[in-house]
Amino acid sequence: MSEHLLRFPEGFIWGTATSAYQIEGAVNEDGRGPSIWDTFCREPGKVWQGHTGDVASDHYHRWRGDIRLMQELGLPAYRFSIAWPRILPEGTGRVNPAGLDFYDRLVDGLRQAGIEPFVTLYHWDLPQALQDRGGWTKRETAEAFAEYARIVAERLGDRVTYWTTHNEPFVSSIMGHFTGEHAPGKKSPFDAAWAYRHIMLSHGLAVEALRATLPSSAQVGIVLNLSPVHPASDSPKDRQAAKRLDGLLNRMFLDPVLRGRFPPDLQKAFGLLFKPSSEDMKRIAAPIDFLGINYYTRVVARHDSGTPFIQAAPIEVEGSERSEMWEIYPAGMYEVLTRVYSEYRPAKILITENGIPTPDAPGPDGQVHDARRIAYLRDHLLQVHRAISEGVPVQGYFVWSLLDNFEWAYGYRMRFGLIYVDYETQARIIKDSGRWFAEVVRQNGLPVEA
Ligand code: FCB
Repeated sequence: MSEHLLRFPEGFIWGTATSAYQIEGAVNEDGRGPSIWDTFCREPGKVWQGHTGDVASDHYHRWRGDIRLMQELGLPAYRFSIAWPRILPEGTGRVNPAGLDFYDRLVDGLRQAGIEPFVTLYHWDLPQALQDRGGWTKRETAEAFAEYARIVAERLGDRVTYWTTHNEPFVSSIMGHFTGEHAPGKKSPFDAAWAYRHIMLSHGLAVEALRATLPSSAQVGIVLNLSPVHPASDSPKDRQAAKRLDGLLNRMFLDPVLRGRFPPDLQKAFGLLFKPSSEDMKRIAAPIDFLGINYYTRVVARHDSGTPFIQAAPIEVEGSERSEMWEIYPAGMYEVLTRVYSEYRPAKILITENGIPTPDAPGPDGQVHDARRIAYLRDHLLQVHRAISEGVPVQGYFVWSLLDNFEWAYGYRMRFGLIYVDYETQARIIKDSGRWFAEVVRQNGLPVEA
């Protein structure tokens, strides 16, 4: 069998992604205030085996070595998030200079290593002080977010071109306030509705603040987690259920940002609960330069009258291939990309996350042979390539994640890294997938069997 190379467009951006709470640790250092994840981890039963992000991958102390690893792999871009509670320990008011200094050094280190920094402003670690005042259910939090965005942009804007406001507002609003699986662990449709409205508004307000602060060359966007939602059967009930779940997962975020409207069919399901005012909607729809898409899996839904509002429930498809967390469904990458482009026409798309958890451990040779991750990444990159060749403007791809890290409610059970972390010693081992990805990046192309 011969191999040939599927080339990606010239200038295609390759990188890896992380987030602050998942890798940094050092939660009590240099003036950082507590976040809602520090609190949530301490509530019994919320996180697997009571794990916390207290130490995580110790990136706060090891960032220089982590940059060297990226350099060794020849990774040209790195997406990370800023911990709001390091910058403003009380959420508003007093700025903590040591917090800004940390990211300042990190950005300089990346630049010196020739790595393009991609900053995410909110990857779920809300300052606890703001939560104590109502968190995202309060409009003040949206205003506080815009102020925080301005402060960070003022400090890093001369060296960071790519900015995203939120990572996956679906998770922070719905999973944080309705299903309660994520911090702050609320289980109320009313909290979820207000959190959704204010998170979306805060995106718009932050875009305004970033535009006012950053040079005109800055690229500003948002990151959404998107999944195709397929009906469990051909029955009209299941098809309608899939449509409602598609509304909740995908369109409730895409429509406001890219079309300035709340999906009309969802308004029927929810009433006016979730719908932003038309004045807020204008701000939410502020033009963005790119859409970040996190893609992991598809969702298959059936009608379920027991689920409030959307009357739809996800099912596991029998016989489907699954990771420890989700169905593995590479064609969904293509489906999401072509759908988003044909329905919403974003000027440019970045795949800001894609990856798989595998139960990695070093073998007798001391190496980590994660063939399953390589297959997952290859199969998904094939679908990205297919979408690009049909004209979808995908301009970059980031693997989740650079390092094994704290996987939220799953704690350290899930390993997503291209680099293995031994949590006892914090030693790092580049996995086979890391070497494989480095080769894809070097060649700007994917080796495929002809
Ligand atoms: C995404 C999150 C990221 C990580 C991956 C596995 O939803 O953005 O922090 O947990 O899932």
